[in-house]
Amino acid sequence: MSVIISPSMLSANFGELDKDIEMINNSEAQWFHIDVMDGVFVPNISFGFPIIQVINNKAKKPLDVHLMIVDPDRYIEQFKNVGAEYLTVHYEACNHLHRTIQNIKSHGMKAGVSLNPHTPISLLEDIIQDLDLVLLMSVNPGFGGQSYIENTYSKIKQLKELIFRKNSVALIEVDGGVDINNASKLIECGADALVAGSAVFKSENPKETIKILRNS
Ligand code: DX5
Ligand code: ZN
Repeated sequence: MSVIISPSMLSANFGELDKDIEMINNSEAQWFHIDVMDGVFVPNISFGFPIIQVINNKAKKPLDVHLMIVDPDRYIEQFKNVGAEYLTVHYEACNHLHRTIQNIKSHGMKAGVSLNPHTPISLLEDIIQDLDLVLLMSVNPGFGGQSYIENTYSKIKQLKELIFRKNSVALIEVDGGVDINNASKLIECGADALVAGSAVFKSENPKETIKILRNS
């Protein structure tokens, strides 16, 4: 299976959102990565339901929604209503992670958990079998355009081992500082999906960049 590319809409041009959505529709990307930030869990605010609804109306591919918000349980139904297919919450933002995951699944979505760069893989030991996706942050969440943190390679390998040992079906997604230079090593280490924001949207030919990432 070739790697899934999930371009991060955070780096899209919101003045011409239609154009960027169409570009992804016509590209080799498989998902739309949607970053939701609340200004509390992370030091930035991105966008909310009206924008996601607009993206969903035009998108011909699944929405991969990454919640960087505290207490995500409050909004699970609303994210389902605006079209989320994958809904990923942060380990660090959930007091009752197992309950949150079950809640996401009961709304008919695939459930993901994201780990900040400092959060060890071992904390997933007792939840990995319930997950469809693990999103490893390879930058500190909050902003696009940051540099990739090298330690992520080793975390991907540890996670792969945990998934194998526990017979989990979870996909491994990597988010932050991903570009055409590190993509092949990330895939080699075991990444199933790559998020790319600035590498795609700031490049001269975004569609071609997606193709290069996909075939890394
Ligand atoms: C950061 C977000 C990322 C971000 C990635 O908190 O979760 O999805 O958009 O952007 P790049 O690819 O530019 O690092
Ligand atoms: Zn993200």
